[in-house]
Amino acid sequence: MKEYQLNNSRTIPAIGLGTWQSRGNSVYNAVLSALKIGYRHIDCAPVYKNQKLVGLAIHDALQKYGINRRELFISSKLWNNAHAPRHVRPAVERSLRELQLDYLDLFLIHWPVRFRQDIEFPRKSEHYLPPDEERLLDTWKAMEKMVKKGLCRSIGVCNFRLSRLNNLLSHCKIPPAVNQIELHPYLRQQDMLEFAAKHHVLLTAYSPLGSPGRPDKIRKGNAPELLDHPVIIKISKEIKASPAQVVLAWGLARQCAVIPKSVNPSRLKENLGAMNISLSRQQIDAITSLDCNNRFLDGSFFCQKFSSYSLDYLW
Ligand code: A2P
Repeated sequence: MKEYQLNNSRTIPAIGLGTWQSRGNSVYNAVLSALKIGYRHIDCAPVYKNQKLVGLAIHDALQKYGINRRELFISSKLWNNAHAPRHVRPAVERSLRELQLDYLDLFLIHWPVRFRQDIEFPRKSEHYLPPDEERLLDTWKAMEKMVKKGLCRSIGVCNFRLSRLNNLLSHCKIPPAVNQIELHPYLRQQDMLEFAAKHHVLLTAYSPLGSPGRPDKIRKGNAPELLDHPVIIKISKEIKASPAQVVLAWGLARQCAVIPKSVNPSRLKENLGAMNISLSRQQIDAITSLDCNNRFLDGSFFCQKFSSYSLDYLW
């Protein structure tokens, strides 16, 4: 499995399995099959509401397939209602319990957005805590303690825009190993890519296939589905690979980790196969030129009229 070195010298497998929107038996079977066929990186979050089943599948796979825990790279995330420093350790411990692990390979701040502790999804203004960059740095200090305690091997962030990542880098003791962001040919994130490379922060691409399974309410724009785009189809015919493999190989060629979600055994295999595909410079450039700044998961669900957060604050 292709791996990248993180800024703390640990490694992360370049292809991981995303688990957002995977439910019930299908997430259990997907994680079990993925580990059987060679995935070693599973991306999780408590808010996906499936960590217990992911944990069960990891537990069963370790026993059934003779995989060693050390070979695995399991990430989870801090939900928006647990940013207060005193809530960080209980949040890590909850994920550890659900996943049946005694350490996480990576723990990420899920969003730079804060809710009251008793609120999972805000429905009125007082459910939010106001945006506050200083408090975010306090959350980070609590994340750093989790590394010192041995509960997390690496820590990082998700959905941090460039200026916020820069601010964190200038105030932290342990630099974030990863920024996990939406990244695909329709949202190529060029500035972030260059900044992250310069500062040794690995980018993990979520929705790397252009999120074909996203909920209808976040469908927008007139661009065709990424996997149906004529440029992607043309390249996939040229190199006899599937459209998904072309798009994932593009992500890998730009030195990003990719975490495509699938609960379908043949697609799991297909997506892992992207590791063996190389694209020419011309093909990479043709795919990169598809960018239309199309952000599907723009966090507008945190920017209701009554919210103190806005798209301008996020991006
Ligand atoms: P499924 O789970 O039924 O395979 P993303 O990671 O960009 O959000 O994409 C996930 C979506 O893409 C899911 O709906 C998933 O459906 C689908 N998907 C995953 N792998 C492939 C593939 N190789 N070809 C087409 N669609 C895929």
